[in-house]
Amino acid sequence: MNKLTVQALQWTGFSLKVLDQRRLPEDCVYDEYTDAAGVAEAIASMRVRGAPAIGIAAAYGIALSVCEHFLLAPLTWRALVKQDIDILARSRPTAVNLFTALNTMTAHLQGQHVTPATVLALAKKIHADDIDANHKMGELGADLLADAQGILTHCNTGALATGGYGTALGVIRSAYARQARTIYADETRPWLQGARLTAWELAQEGIPVTLIADSAAAWLMRSGAVSWIIVGADRIACNGDTANKIGTYGLAVLAKQHGVKMMVVAPTTTIDWEMPTAEDMVIEQRNQNELLPACYLQENSLVSAWNPVFDITPAALIDVIVTERGVIMQPSEQGMRSVQCR
Ligand code: MRU
Repeated sequence: MNKLTVQALQWTGFSLKVLDQRRLPEDCVYDEYTDAAGVAEAIASMRVRGAPAIGIAAAYGIALSVCEHFLLAPLTWRALVKQDIDILARSRPTAVNLFTALNTMTAHLQGQHVTPATVLALAKKIHADDIDANHKMGELGADLLADAQGILTHCNTGALATGGYGTALGVIRSAYARQARTIYADETRPWLQGARLTAWELAQEGIPVTLIADSAAAWLMRSGAVSWIIVGADRIACNGDTANKIGTYGLAVLAKQHGVKMMVVAPTTTIDWEMPTAEDMVIEQRNQNELLPACYLQENSLVSAWNPVFDITPAALIDVIVTERGVIMQPSEQGMRSVQCR
């Protein structure tokens, strides 16, 4: 697999192929889905992950649902598709791109002249629009970096997490194309998106990357080697409060202490226009088995784990949010609204 073929999601014409990200970097294996329930399971089990990729997968899941039910159940297909939408909506709670995509598809389904072809065309458009947004954000973010040398990123926000190219990793790719930089990636425990996915993706691109343990970030910043932290987002409230992979909040606090700038890169599909602040955001808690060594998984074990997989960074700790519609410096509700309906 080379850089031109890193694709988390592939539409085959009649099915959705999903690169099983749990098996990277050792194995590149695609699983194939022909119904929405299968796609929902692929999202819940993290075969596909990353907010934009989750939204795109869900859109294709609805296209599969319509293809399945439209001809076989001409009178009841909308109700059957609605059941599949509900299944997809339960797959993961924090990434708002999932619900943005489901709402876009639902609005289309409520219109007239809906056919499997029009629904599939909309899913493909959601996919293409995300890639387009990534490229725009890449250039806008790279403009802000100017000659900055040291960059630290967290989790995986690249082609694997999006329709293609990436959000934070897209900015890093665009910036690196302009001039070489020193890129650091957090391991991103417990699931190791940084070690397994970001390091792998950057290597595919021919971009050198230095992996650090999450706990080394403070000392790295103290050394002066990093001038920007660049991350993605799973949900951004109207005031700029940002939910992202667990550990992002800690990085933002450390950035303030060390004079390092904090950049969040996300398409406008990641902004929750209904949510004034992060106060009511649902933070996904995943199974403690993802964290605990097997020896602690027995009955009556005295060792348990707390496993929130996202945290919230208050807008006050973010220097800039980059969207495809423009950048928001020192995010506030007014700044966020400026990209709402351009
Ligand atoms: O749990 P994950 O791997 O789905 O979490 C992914 C992240 O937190 C990413 O930073 C976010 O979705 C932005 S991806 C472009």
